[in-house]
Amino acid sequence: MTDQPDLRSQLEEARRQGIDDFDKADSPQSLYEARTRYLGKKGKVKGILRGLGRLSKEERPLIGQCANEVADALEEAYQKRQNELKSAQDAQKLEQDDIDLSLPGTWTRRGAVHPLIRTQLEIEDFFHSMGYDIGEGPEIETEYHNFEALNIPPDHPARDMQDTFFMKSGHVLRTHTSPVQVRYMESHQPPLRMIAPGRVYRCDSDVTHSPMFSQIEGLVVDENISFRDLRGTLEQMIHYIFSPDIGARFRPSFFPFTEPSAEVDIECFACRGADPQCRICKGTGWLEVLGCGMVNPAVFEAVGYDSKKYTGFAFGLGIERFAMLKYQINDIRLFFDNDIRFLKQFV
Ligand code: PHE
Repeated sequence: MTDQPDLRSQLEEARRQGIDDFDKADSPQSLYEARTRYLGKKGKVKGILRGLGRLSKEERPLIGQCANEVADALEEAYQKRQNELKSAQDAQKLEQDDIDLSLPGTWTRRGAVHPLIRTQLEIEDFFHSMGYDIGEGPEIETEYHNFEALNIPPDHPARDMQDTFFMKSGHVLRTHTSPVQVRYMESHQPPLRMIAPGRVYRCDSDVTHSPMFSQIEGLVVDENISFRDLRGTLEQMIHYIFSPDIGARFRPSFFPFTEPSAEVDIECFACRGADPQCRICKGTGWLEVLGCGMVNPAVFEAVGYDSKKYTGFAFGLGIERFAMLKYQINDIRLFFDNDIRFLKQFV
């Protein structure tokens, strides 16, 4: 027999000493250093194993196995001591900080999504589920995109319909989200489906009008798009947002960029047409919610689409109007005052 008992006893000795050293370590740092001394690359266990070369073929695996057992035992002792030190440290910290665990915690209010954004997200959800893309455009807009390209020439009376904020630079604050239709078509080819939510500006202010408000534009262009597609889409959307049993009617109207054009009314969900004194619908039984129509071929010409090949529909709705109807809010300014008493009703 060669050095086998010798190596074995060295390993046993390392185990005994190591466990002892670990137990004596009084800080994570000194414990870590002790671990390195025994289990590190240049540690005792590896050092002893360097003697393996002198052993016979039969002896090597026996000593190797013994070394593994020692390393495992040391590792276990190290973990155990580490946990002890950590608990002691935690206990000490608790003592020092003098925490009274029985004190009630600090109370934070739960946040909520603003009713306008919530309405916008619901409408977006609906169109997202139908595969619509989101379009974007600037709030400071060129007259070309806000008016000309939408078939509203400079001297057209329709420019008066919208009380425009003109800027010194010759730009305008966009009066509707319809210019996003134009920008989207300038950068995409049909078939396309998109909605464009955003802020718009008109010089107008009372309980139902704000100089800044929000719209969602919609645009679909393909071959053979018809008014029935428009009607089906908007009816579905209204059912999704308000209620599946709410009726909608399409009333002929006029917009320079759509032909034919319509305005959509929904049945008054407060009185269902039964109360001549109803404060929501003023006794008419109907509530106007949006404008829409088939894209005017003149708009397709402006963006270079073949108006013989393609047809499309477009619509524009006011998000505040939707939210006011949905949550029965009677003053548009409540959306912008940020009064916490108003907002917390929507948690
Ligand atoms: N842009 C119109 C408005 O603001 C709404 C609209 C959009 C009408 C698209 C028809 C088609 O009143």
